[in-house]
Amino acid sequence: MKFYVTTPIYYVNDAPTVGHAYSSIACDVLARYHRLRGDDVLFTTGTDEHALKVLRVAEQRGMDPKAYVDEMASLYREEWARLNISYDDFIQTSEPRQHRAVQAFMEALYQRGDLYEGAYEGWYCVSDETFFAEAELVEGHCPNPECGKPVEWVSEPAFFFRFSKYQDRLLRHIEANPNWLLPEFRKNEVVSFVQGGLRDVCVTRRGTWGIPLPSSIPNSEGLVVYVWADALINYLTCVGYPDDEAKLARFWPADVHLMGKEIFTRFHATLWPALLMFAGLPLPRQIAAHGFWTMGGEKISKSRSVKPPRPEPVIAEVVAKTGCSEERAVDALRYYMLREIPFGPDGEFSVEALLRRYTDDLGNDLGNLVHRVLAMIGRYRQGKLPAPCPPEAVLVEAAQVAAEGWDEALKTLQFSAGLQAIWSFLAVANRYVDQQAPWSLAKSGDEAALDRVLYASAEALRIAAVLIAPVMPSTADEIERQLGLTEWPRTWEQATQWGLLPGGQQIGEAAPIFPKLEPAKSRRGEEAKGERRETRGAEAKEKRMVSIKDFQNLDLRVAEVLTAEPVPGANKLLKLTVDIGTEQRTLVAGIALCYQPEDLIGKKIVVVTNLEPATIRGVRSEGMLLAGSVAGDDTSITLVTPERSLPNGAVVK
Ligand code: MSP
Repeated sequence: MKFYVTTPIYYVNDAPTVGHAYSSIACDVLARYHRLRGDDVLFTTGTDEHALKVLRVAEQRGMDPKAYVDEMASLYREEWARLNISYDDFIQTSEPRQHRAVQAFMEALYQRGDLYEGAYEGWYCVSDETFFAEAELVEGHCPNPECGKPVEWVSEPAFFFRFSKYQDRLLRHIEANPNWLLPEFRKNEVVSFVQGGLRDVCVTRRGTWGIPLPSSIPNSEGLVVYVWADALINYLTCVGYPDDEAKLARFWPADVHLMGKEIFTRFHATLWPALLMFAGLPLPRQIAAHGFWTMGGEKISKSRSVKPPRPEPVIAEVVAKTGCSEERAVDALRYYMLREIPFGPDGEFSVEALLRRYTDDLGNDLGNLVHRVLAMIGRYRQGKLPAPCPPEAVLVEAAQVAAEGWDEALKTLQFSAGLQAIWSFLAVANRYVDQQAPWSLAKSGDEAALDRVLYASAEALRIAAVLIAPVMPSTADEIERQLGLTEWPRTWEQATQWGLLPGGQQIGEAAPIFPKLEPAKSRRGEEAKGERRETRGAEAKEKRMVSIKDFQNLDLRVAEVLTAEPVPGANKLLKLTVDIGTEQRTLVAGIALCYQPEDLIGKKIVVVTNLEPATIRGVRSEGMLLAGSVAGDDTSITLVTPERSLPNGAVVK
């Protein structure tokens, strides 16, 4: 199987931020996962250099544009190397191969009548590099909510692509291919854009910075190809268009084009497929748009004043605050960005949240597991792995569920859900060690049982390394190194196989993978840890007891959601109006990461109606809805709903 995945190619008017890194990391995870599966992967990225805004920055700096774009492209290459982005090809649109592909494409368009001469009169947003009609502007500014900048008037001779001709075919394709455009909720946006009527697109600009229209096209002097037509064609250039037919046949169509939501509807989900339809080439298998990372509640993008951080200072802060290696901090950033928000909605970037994930998910769930298992093999078996034991059903089954959960989640690019599946496996492995209590077996002298548990626990670590490898490649390497596996030919199937660790092998040196933010005050040994956990569990149970009277004081009712909308400036909150039978109430609920407002309308939920009102982000909340989630994970929130139909106001008890 082949797998071709692409990042957007990035404008070089600015340095890469964590926002740009997010797209590249997501694609890298897909590429690494497919390589593990044995697929023939082509993963491309690069820089989009013929933008007017790029030229203007070069001019401001008094630099030759080509020298400027080369310098900026190197910055992207360095950043992707730091973040362990395993691309196969990095394209710069100023390269001769792109020149060749774009001119060939334009020539074909002209010859076959889909490119025609005219004149463009209208508005142009330089920041977004997009043409807009008067009616589309918002108070005279760029209508893209991520931009909003002033637009410039353009009046010049131009060539147009017959976009309008592809309207019906596009709609039919969307209809017939349910998972073509992701996420599902963005599909409607595309459908209404197309149904609103496609206008033919101007695909040239007057100027010299860009790829000239082929000179064989009459009246084309002084015109260069519009930066978006140029940029989209990069996806074909990277597979050898127009000269390398074998490569084109091998890798086209792309399996996944991934990008931010701002360049989805107008460009990737409509203009690009229409250009491909013209060229008679199959359409990409999936076109997927992720949300925008915000900071302090504001959109962060290149056009706004709120600048997202560059990856480097974020990594440096994680290293400084935890004492981990730079490689671990890179993996922590990769993990955080994919785990924190589902693929699709916007998310708030914060180093505090990243450090929380570091401590809880990476330090406690993963790092501790590795460390305590290896420390016990060191202590009880002088660092030698015991002989393989028969499969431990609980671990084998959990690994199977995790691998399948990841496979399934990735079909719709739900990285966060996939990671949750893997973390459930880690939870099972941690519980296995707790319950089997190797420290007690050592004390009681049950050597055979101790061998079995130590081997099985080490196997769980080996499996964990495979499962996390696409997201945290250097951590997977480090776990394998600590297990004594060097040059291990890792494959995805190994996640569901048992007994691969060679018995009798000497393990490598154990060192904490994700060191703690604060060093532990006392080191009391595994036995004490086991005891502590048990006591804490018992105390918690004690505290959770309430009397029936306490419970009856709560007024729980079935309610119906009438309206739902985001709370401005809070990416996790939604404001709902609900009907509780006797009246309508306003609620503020922290469910926005898991529900789109439109999905909630008409839903029956359960509401605590006699909770003291509270004002949250300026909105008065008169009650609380009930929802469940995996502990500490607000991307897994699920509403509690009555199993069968009940009227609004029905009592829940
Ligand atoms: N050059 C065009 C894309 C052409 S693709 C044929 C472009 N470049 S860009 O530099 O503006 O990068 C846009 C992409 O970077 C977004 O689509 C998104 O993938 C990523 N991001 C940049 N900032 C981002 C956030 N703050 N949040 C999430 N991703 C964003 O548009």
